Amino acid sequence: MKFIAGNSLLRRVNDEIFIDSLPINEFITKFKTPLIILLENRIKENIKNFNKVFASEFKNFHCFYSFKANYLPEICEIVNSEGIGAEVVGILELKLALKLGFPSEKILVGGPYLPDELIDLSIKHGIREIVIYNVENLKKINFYAQKYNIVQNICIRITSQKYGSKLGINIDESTLNLLKDLKKNLSNIRITSILSHYSTQMNNYKQYQTNLNSIITSLKLLLKYGISIDNINLGGGFPEATVMPQRQLRNIAKKIKSHLDESNISYKNIYFEPGRYLVGDSGLFLTKIVRFTNKNWTFLDIGNHICPKFARCSLRFYNASQINEPHKFPTSFAGIMPSDQDVLAKNYFFTKKIKEGDIVIVTNIGAYCLTFSNRFPYSLPIILLVKGTNYKEIFNPIFDKDFSLNSI
Ligand SMILES: Cc1ncc(COP(=O)(O)O)c(C=O)c1O
Repeated sequence: MKFIAGNSLLRRVNDEIFIDSLPINEFITKFKTPLIILLENRIKENIKNFNKVFASEFKNFHCFYSFKANYLPEICEIVNSEGIGAEVVGILELKLALKLGFPSEKILVGGPYLPDELIDLSIKHGIREIVIYNVENLKKINFYAQKYNIVQNICIRITSQKYGSKLGINIDESTLNLLKDLKKNLSNIRITSILSHYSTQMNNYKQYQTNLNSIITSLKLLLKYGISIDNINLGGGFPEATVMPQRQLRNIAKKIKSHLDESNISYKNIYFEPGRYLVGDSGLFLTKIVRFTNKNWTFLDIGNHICPKFARCSLRFYNASQINEPHKFPTSFAGIMPSDQDVLAKNYFFTKKIKEGDIVIVTNIGAYCLTFSNRFPYSLPIILLVKGTNYKEIFNPIFDKDFSLNSI
């Protein structure tokens, strides 16, 4: 028995491939490609693992799933069943979180655009914190908090030190003076938390450290201006769980803890907002080779419209029709969009012989693929949710038309 792509729910047993506890043929014979398969038990395993690692370092740790990684209601429902919170960026995600029964005190709402309706709904439902990306939002939030006669907790997102980062608030002298004034004059808001999200696919502790240093520097500056913050939020940015083994995650958690201890800052709670780590490796495509050239280009029946580069997934390719053949011959994968830019991977180790009609498993597509996908004029794939020996169709383009959150 061997794991495929390091995924405990994708196994090769002799000649056969199992997706959770079902043989791959179950899907190949019943469904057309491309097909998306999402693994419920993998999401649960990843959440348990993430919680275990961080809870063993921090007794005051809270985890909020970043809905934008994969906002399919069935996926968010699985996340809710594991008891972690939600991080949402817009009104439809907020409505979905509330509908699925995420407790309000476990929901963070925030983003670069906070329309009135989103602020109103957030405050009406008593969500835990509103995350602001610019200081001007505070007046508006104070107005709605007054309307409901409450004091709203606020988290300020600061710009990370990453080159070119423009999301969030720059903690400079004029901002600090403005915050100080607003704190005095706006009695229906309380600044409780600070967030810095640095990047995506962060494999190297240095990136976490840079993020942490931004938070520590900003906390000290805020304190100088009389603003003391309770909670720190380090955002997300972890790679897929198959890409970052538990040992490495634990190492990062330990280093974050000791860096915080050494920096002598006090904080009540520490938050993380992982998206990709929790759902990335729960998703795979079953796709088909539609053509290949003698120049090592293999064309699949997916493309960047449904498996976009923007999603920054750690894609892995396996020839399911020849799974026992060595995968050590470089091939480049292209998609079906009529564009030279539709490249999925270059010089990826694959089987020597390539046949039209071979089924290819593409792993690690559970996060951001649907989010960044576009409406290129091809049919959307069926999406199945697999659990043990069962599966259900959670999206069929013929009946469901579109997986966007158009209304909740
Ligand atoms: C503020 C914030 N939190 C969390 C996330 C989730 O990141 P990831 O899926 O890389 O963990 C993002 C992603 O852009 C983000 O901007």
